[in-house]
Amino acid sequence: MIYWKYDIILLLVTLCTRIANATDNSTRALNKILLDYDKKIRPDQEGPPTTVTIGVYVESLGSIRETTMDFSVTMFLRQTWTDPRLAHGGNEEVIFKGDDTEKFWYPDIFFLYEKNSVKHDVTIRNVGMRVRSDGEVFRSARLTVTLACNMDLYEFPMDSQNCDIFMMSYAYPTSELILTIPQTEVFVEPNITIPRFTLKGVKTRNTELVYSTGNFSCAQATLSLERQMQSYVLTVYVPNLLLVIIAWLSFWIDAEAAPARVALGVTTILTVTTMTTNIQETLPVVTYTKAIDIWQAACLIFVFLSLLEYAFANYLLVLQVKSQRTSYSIRKLDEDSQQTRKAPALSKIERNEDGNVTTYRPALAQKEPRLSSHQLDKLARIVYPGAFVLFNVFYWAYYLIN
Ligand SMILES: *[C@@H]1O[C@H](CO)[C@@H](O)[C@H](O)[C@H]1NC(C)=O
Ligand SMILES: *[C@@H]1O[C@H](CO)[C@@H](O)[C@H](O)[C@H]1NC(C)=O
Repeated sequence: MIYWKYDIILLLVTLCTRIANATDNSTRALNKILLDYDKKIRPDQEGPPTTVTIGVYVESLGSIRETTMDFSVTMFLRQTWTDPRLAHGGNEEVIFKGDDTEKFWYPDIFFLYEKNSVKHDVTIRNVGMRVRSDGEVFRSARLTVTLACNMDLYEFPMDSQNCDIFMMSYAYPTSELILTIPQTEVFVEPNITIPRFTLKGVKTRNTELVYSTGNFSCAQATLSLERQMQSYVLTVYVPNLLLVIIAWLSFWIDAEAAPARVALGVTTILTVTTMTTNIQETLPVVTYTKAIDIWQAACLIFVFLSLLEYAFANYLLVLQVKSQRTSYSIRKLDEDSQQTRKAPALSKIERNEDGNVTTYRPALAQKEPRLSSHQLDKLARIVYPGAFVLFNVFYWAYYLIN
């Protein structure tokens, strides 16, 4: 009875070792290969160039900064190539993790225009590798890179930007290594959110860059980003618009209420100036004019014009008051001089050769301003918003229709 139990155990042990052997046969074969494997030498050293297929999975995209003109992207960089030396003929592919992947040759890819990058190693280096029985190797690494992106800000904030990811081999020229990035190998995390931008799509391109040190194969992925201008509508466009409207309202305030109108004009100018300064601080210093600059300059000019209009209206008011006063005093003096039979006080008296007396009235006294300050205000109430609407039509048509 007891021997029967031992038989079963023996059977189970042999079965288990059989299964273990069957699953282990690839690893053991690969380990044997690795005994005299030189990772310094590329696959097919004497043969044609090694072709590496690149795939990119964009996990997150962030900090697209205009001031430094760069962006950072966290991605899975996937590379597939065939290393005939690693054809182990096993029944399944062998998986390597973390630092174990260092035992093999792998492409020396670097990012062109890279400023800063991070290798992720929590909890273990984020690298994985799979070796198939026919020697095809798949390597995936997770990294975050900050890349330069030359931005064209003429239409800011209604602009779209194309930011490129260039990948190249550092050491191997095209005659040794070719990189290809098929469009089907580029993926973006669904529901990805990018601050202030929307991702329109990713396009890929395979190019060759010519340097004095040789020609290098380059895989390029271009991210098309469109800026979401909604935040600028609420923080810049609407507040500026409201200030222009407030400046317009000042035309309804009596021109004689000088403190009210001057205060309103100066306050709106100061507010527009402060807002402009705040926005400019978040933008790079570029030599050209951006769309937002034109808007802010126009608002500043409109607000300034309302103050200028008041200065003119006030001048007209002064003229009116003066002419009313002088005509009143001339009338009064004329009456007096008729009573006393003397020349009017405000007239000039000249005696010509014949001895006749001619009198001149000063020109000012007779001249009433053609436009009263009230009429000017009335005119401004229509012309000012009209001009602003006209500016808006041209501005939005120019920047939104193209
Ligand atoms: C591994 O096992 C499979 C069958 O399971 C066999 O066909 C293959 O030849 C074995 N490979 C090696 C390298 O032993
Ligand atoms: C590099 O490419 C250019 C043109 O694309 C070619 O004229 C030149 O011979 C190439 N240089 C090498 C070293 O292959």
